[in-house]
Amino acid sequence: MTKQTIRDVNWEGKRALVRVDFNVPLEDGRITDDTRVRAALPTIQYLLDHGAAVVLMSHLGRPKKKVVEGLRLAPVAAHLGQLLGRTVKTAPTTTGPEAEAAAQALKAGEVLMLENTRFDAREEANDEGMARELAKLGDVYVNDAFGAAHRAHASTEGVAHFLPAVSGLLMERELAELGGLLENPERPFVAIMGGAKISDKISVITNLLRIVDTLLIGGGMANTFFLAMGHNVGDSLVEANAVGEVNNILAFARERNAEILLPTDAVIADAMSADANRKVVSVDAVPDGWRILDIGPASVAAFSEKIKQAKTVVWNGPMGYFEAAPFAEGTRGIAQAMSESAGRTVIGGGDSVAAVEQMGLADKIGHISTGGGASLELLEGRALPGVVALNDKA
Ligand code: 3PG
Repeated sequence: MTKQTIRDVNWEGKRALVRVDFNVPLEDGRITDDTRVRAALPTIQYLLDHGAAVVLMSHLGRPKKKVVEGLRLAPVAAHLGQLLGRTVKTAPTTTGPEAEAAAQALKAGEVLMLENTRFDAREEANDEGMARELAKLGDVYVNDAFGAAHRAHASTEGVAHFLPAVSGLLMERELAELGGLLENPERPFVAIMGGAKISDKISVITNLLRIVDTLLIGGGMANTFFLAMGHNVGDSLVEANAVGEVNNILAFARERNAEILLPTDAVIADAMSADANRKVVSVDAVPDGWRILDIGPASVAAFSEKIKQAKTVVWNGPMGYFEAAPFAEGTRGIAQAMSESAGRTVIGGGDSVAAVEQMGLADKIGHISTGGGASLELLEGRALPGVVALNDKA
């Protein structure tokens, strides 16, 4: 069911209570990556241009239900002010009399940032009392926090029951781009999954196998496939207790007629460090005492070929230990192939996004999701509570 958006509301004279995901990385109070703040600008600007006063709320980090000075939202509000070219006011609390007074005093065209929602113990419990208090701060609730839409918290889900509730433009785009992949993809449809652990991605892989033509698997998770195939993996990271699940995945792929492509060669090292001895070997020739830390050049070439031929490609997770330059070539190769693909390209969250950004290729990718966990849950085919709670289109 399609959800109402901010375009379906007459904002003249109204207060928009907007949940954004400003959970940005901070170092000494400085934002080191403002992608999520920039991603919310179209929604905020639309609301301001259409006569609304804008009350923003977000979580930042995991303060564990108490005030943590380093996780106050003031530096983010200041940065947003610079991007918008106008003052962003701040409230000292998330709810209660001070937040209410600040929200009431807000005029059309003004922006207020509430304090970190997770300073309040009731947020993560999706407490109805907190949701009702939040609802007093606006006339219409807008959820633009795609990255937090898999959380059923008071500010992402609960509050939507006490106000008219619509999606923001970022949320709308994320759902169309990521959710849309699963609906009617142009074929061939190729998915690339990487990352350390297979156990984290069993549901997403299973769901993708229902629809993709080819699934490419790299990163530490491929090691458990090698183990299932009877290869010696030396000291590589493996999840021996997931071998049964891996066999189920392989059987399901055969049943669905979906192709699973694993790396055929690997960069191995004798320690997990950038200056370890390393070499490229076939994946069935990993000696004892060595570990797989990246996919090898033949695998990069084979994966790249599939990516370039695809009409639809989605990628999540690095191909190796890409934080260390000698083991980043696999991930960089996939990023390069994604940027050269003529098909629809989507990257879902986290380390793969960091790779394309480091390589300056972000503008050559169709859609880069702002969600980590949320994008995976969507690809798993799960309903996101923050989306379900929004009003359906008539
Ligand atoms: C994220 O960074 O993925 C979102 O902001 C959600 O954060 P959380 O995992 O702490 O809920």
